[in-house]
Formats: sequence, structure tokens, C-alpha cells
Amino acid sequence: MPKSPAKTVTSSSSERSLGTVALRWHGDRLELLDQRLLPAEETWLTLKDAEGVARSIRDMVVRGAPAIGISAAYGVALAARTADDSRWKEDIETAIGTLSDSRPTAVNLFWALKLMTDILATCESREQAVQRLAEGAVQIHEDDITANLSMAEHAMEAMNETSPFAVLTHCNTGALATGGYGTALGVIRRLHEGSRLQKVYADETRPWLQGSRLTAWELQRDGIPVTLNAEGAAGCILHQGDVKWVVVGADRITANGDVVNKIGTYNLAVLARHHKVRFMVVAPSSTVDMDTASGNEVKIEERDGLELREIRGQAIAPEGVDVFNPVFDVTPASLIDVIVTERGVVHAPNITGMYQLFGPERAG
Ligand code: MRU
Repeated sequence: MPKSPAKTVTSSSSERSLGTVALRWHGDRLELLDQRLLPAEETWLTLKDAEGVARSIRDMVVRGAPAIGISAAYGVALAARTADDSRWKEDIETAIGTLSDSRPTAVNLFWALKLMTDILATCESREQAVQRLAEGAVQIHEDDITANLSMAEHAMEAMNETSPFAVLTHCNTGALATGGYGTALGVIRRLHEGSRLQKVYADETRPWLQGSRLTAWELQRDGIPVTLNAEGAAGCILHQGDVKWVVVGADRITANGDVVNKIGTYNLAVLARHHKVRFMVVAPSSTVDMDTASGNEVKIEERDGLELREIRGQAIAPEGVDVFNPVFDVTPASLIDVIVTERGVVHAPNITGMYQLFGPERAG
């Protein structure tokens, strides 16, 4: 099986590893590392049409808000290639509709599809659409990597500890969840590069296990010290005192600074406030949704109860038991110390701070 390589990028100061990227664009096809099979197997799937990309997003072959947006953009580029010459515009619009139905919560998906729709509006032939939509998707991908590198720099300024410290993170926000480097995991990577990191506690992240299957795998592979914990252990870890920051990503940040992220993020924010541990959210401006007033208005995805009743086909709960499986929750802005984006940081976020950075218009 081909191993997924750690990519590197040269920034002004040094060569940075982007970590293990999970998306490869080849001009006529998109390859996705199947994240459902990690860490046991590294299998790449090849997608040649938008429907396949939409299915991959829905089924979690690819996940993580920025990676979902980037994949959807490539999906639109593929739709231009497979469109019928006589009704190419309608075919691409239908594909955009299918992609937008793939997952409801991460706003990066709708942000990317809006950019691609705007590009489509400039095209006068299918050939033009094939070229411009591919260029647009590559740009979205490259911009995401650039944003991750900038966010890591901004975060370094916000963290003023003078000696190495531990952090706790939730879900997976690394190269696998983005175009490369990562959001919260990008900040962690940067701490490690600067010898400021003692260790990372990685929440297991039930029920899909993004923390144990993906974050622990990514960090271990990149030589970053990681300790895996059940998320029920987070309280006792924060009580120990070595963790100075909880660092997480986001699927959507609303106009008042509320953060929608992987289920369990809210619990962590409450614990962090109780233990006087600071709470940082790291997300690109493509995750900011200034059109939505607060987290209460966001559609929270609920997934199949089987994710809790079974593990790999093996029953771990009584057959048919009722299950509540929301996969995101809302952390109120009041529990967040700092939101880091590539445009800058918002301390003690509220509507005023968010408007200062993102204005009345939707970010983008
Ligand atoms: O259900 P997932 O795995 O797509 O959820 C991912 C998260 O909640 C991440 O924390 C978020 O997308 C930020 S990823 C950089």
C-alpha cells in the first residue's frame, strides 16, 4: 500500500512540514486518503465526479471543516469535466446542489461552493468552466495552507508562557482535516517546532474516534509527543496543572463568537474555565459565518445511532436502544479566551470583536 507522504512547504524562515495530507489533486481526478480506515490501513480512493466527492464527504472518507470545503471545490471542478456539452451549466449547478447536501454544519462547505458558484457565473463555455473551476479549487486549497501557517504565527503571540507547557486538544484538526499543517494542530506543530511544547493530550473523541484514530496517528508520525486519553479523563488532566491551553478547531464561528465544533468541545470549555486553563479556538476565516447571529441558529448534524451502538460491526449496546448522536455542539463565546484566524485574533470574543475583524459582510 502506498504510504501518504508528509509534504513540506518553504516559508520565509524555514522549511515546514505540512504533515500527512489527505487530498491530492491531479487535474482530472481527486485522490482522498480514506480516513475511515486509519490508522489500520492507508488506502487512497480516486474520485472522478462530483457525486463521488459528495458521497466521500457524507461518509467521512474526508472530514474536518476546511478539508470538506476544499474537496467540495474539487468536486465542482470535476463536475465541469463530466458535464454534458449541451447543458453544462445546469449539470454543474446540480452537482453544486448535491455537494451542498453532503453535510450540514461546517460552513466551509457552503463558503467554498459560493466561491465556485461565483466563478461559474463568469464562464461562457464548458472549456472555460473546466479551466477556471479547477484553478479556483486549487486556489482555495493553497489559501487554506497559507491561512494555517499564519494562524500558527498569530497563536504564538497569544501564548505568553515562558517555559514549555502541555496542551489538550479534541477531535482532529491536523493536516488530515485541512489542506495541510492544520488549524489547532498547526498551532501545536508550531509550538513543537519552537521547542515550547511539553506534550499533547489528545481526547479520544467518541464516537468516531478522530482523536485516537487520526490525531494520535498524525502526531506520533510527526514525532510530536502525544498522550491519548478518554475524554472523560479531561477533568482530571486539567486538574493536574500541566495543561496551560486547550486548543481546538471549529466547524462554524457565528457573528457573536459562539463556536460550533466536535461534540464534547463545550464540555471541555466548561472544564477549562473551572480549572483556569485558557481556551483557544483556531480556524480560518472560511469558518466564520457572520450571517448567523449565534450558535443556537446553526443546524447541528445528527448521525446514525449505529455509531454508538456498534464498533466495526460489533454490538457494544443493546440492539435497538434509543441513541442521541449529535456530532457537534455549541461553545458560547463567553467560555472562549481567544479565537485565532489568519486575519488576526479576537480576545474574549463577542459581537464587537468579531465585527472589528470580519465586518458586516460574511468572511471570504
Ligand atoms: O465530524 P468531523 O470529523 O468532520 O468534525 C471535525 C471537527 O469538528 C473539527 O474540529 C473541525 O472541523 C475543525 S478541523 C480543522
